[in-house]
Amino acid sequence: MIKIKLTVIYPPFSSLMHKQQSYIISSSYEKAMNAIRTIKVLGRWSLNRLQGKRMPLIAVFSMTHYCNYYCAMCPFGDPDKDAQMRLAMHRDLSTEQWMHIMSKVAPYVIWSIVEGGEPTSRKDILELLEHLKGLGLPVTMITNGSLLHTLDLDRLKHCVDYICLSIDSLRQESYCKIRGVKPEIFKRVMSNLMLLKDHNIKHYINSVITKWNAEEFITQEYFDIAKNLGIKTVSMTFVEDRADVNYSLLPDRSTMVKVCNSILDYMERYDEPFILIPPLYWEQIIEYGRVLFDECGVWKSIFVNADGTVMVPCWKYKDNAYNLLEHDVEYVWSREEWAEVKHCRECDVLACIWYSSQSPTVLANGYMRGIRMLIRKHLG
Ligand SMILES: C[S@@+](CC[C@H](N)C(=O)[O-])C[C@H]1O[C@@H](n2cnc3c(N)ncnc32)[C@H](O)[C@@H]1O
Ligand code: SF4
Ligand code: SF4
Repeated sequence: MIKIKLTVIYPPFSSLMHKQQSYIISSSYEKAMNAIRTIKVLGRWSLNRLQGKRMPLIAVFSMTHYCNYYCAMCPFGDPDKDAQMRLAMHRDLSTEQWMHIMSKVAPYVIWSIVEGGEPTSRKDILELLEHLKGLGLPVTMITNGSLLHTLDLDRLKHCVDYICLSIDSLRQESYCKIRGVKPEIFKRVMSNLMLLKDHNIKHYINSVITKWNAEEFITQEYFDIAKNLGIKTVSMTFVEDRADVNYSLLPDRSTMVKVCNSILDYMERYDEPFILIPPLYWEQIIEYGRVLFDECGVWKSIFVNADGTVMVPCWKYKDNAYNLLEHDVEYVWSREEWAEVKHCRECDVLACIWYSSQSPTVLANGYMRGIRMLIRKHLG
């Protein structure tokens, strides 16, 4: 009855309802199709594993050589921004080339991660994210967050599943020191974080723990501030020191142990913010000063650089690159250089590499932690 009245008196409102209903139906249909797609890709991947074949399962697209930041721990933090911009102009893939490569990679993977350089510095970023979504892939975009206010956030909401905002410190001073930026930028990032909340865009924050922000984790202030800001999930890794500079940002051993113990303590006592990196990562660092794994799992991700190259087995082997504009994924993944992952243990503390190198049991435990947290939260 009410609906009929609305149709007569407020046609625009009723057409909105109609649109909304068809959106719900088409979005449930899309979800079902994407779930079927994921099951198929996983099935094929597991079959390959049974035959001892390595194939990627996650795509990581490093969208551009350019970044507007100066982070000391990252090669994209290069202070010569003019040279970096020139490099990006000459070497970054065009919109069409990225779309071509994304389409080439999509059939192999169940998730995509978009990062950089700074992905939001590309003018066509929304178009490229929409292309990825159109391929049926879930998308996480990792960003420094400083340019989010320049994007159409209503459009962004429909083309990403998660935004990972890199906020190493929630204290202005340490943030600016690590990221090499002015206080205004920290304020801008914090206000952009609120914009994500206002637009209902799912997000979490990631911190790289260095000697400049370790204290915040020992005092647990990082988590307390995050909780007050309404942040539900956080992720952290100790910094992986760069090989191309003559300084280390890693805290000393005893500070690292204090950080790990404090994070374990927080995890034990609180469910929120949920800490994505499982206890085992922190426990191994306490015991051995680094993480352990049998075989490096870097091959489970296809990491595509801004010029379309994939370095085999990883970024530390710069001279061994294959361009996806010329080669297909099967060709690149059948190279014998992948055997290097069996022996290489160069990444001491990088959480993403540790995670990808764990056995299915550890991954299942991590999954169960998430479920337990949800049950505790909703059932008490
Ligand atoms: C290379 S950045 C690119 C995306 C974007 N510019 C940002 O900062 O989020 C991707 C992620 O790597 C992290 N990162 C950079 N250098 C790192 C290092 N040496 N060790 C561990 N993580 C690092 C950043 O904090 C960020 O979360
Ligand atoms: S903002 Fe991201 S890409 Fe840029 S220098 Fe920092 S970590 Fe690197
Ligand atoms: S452990 Fe070795 S192979 Fe694996 S990501 Fe690190 S440097 Fe590359």
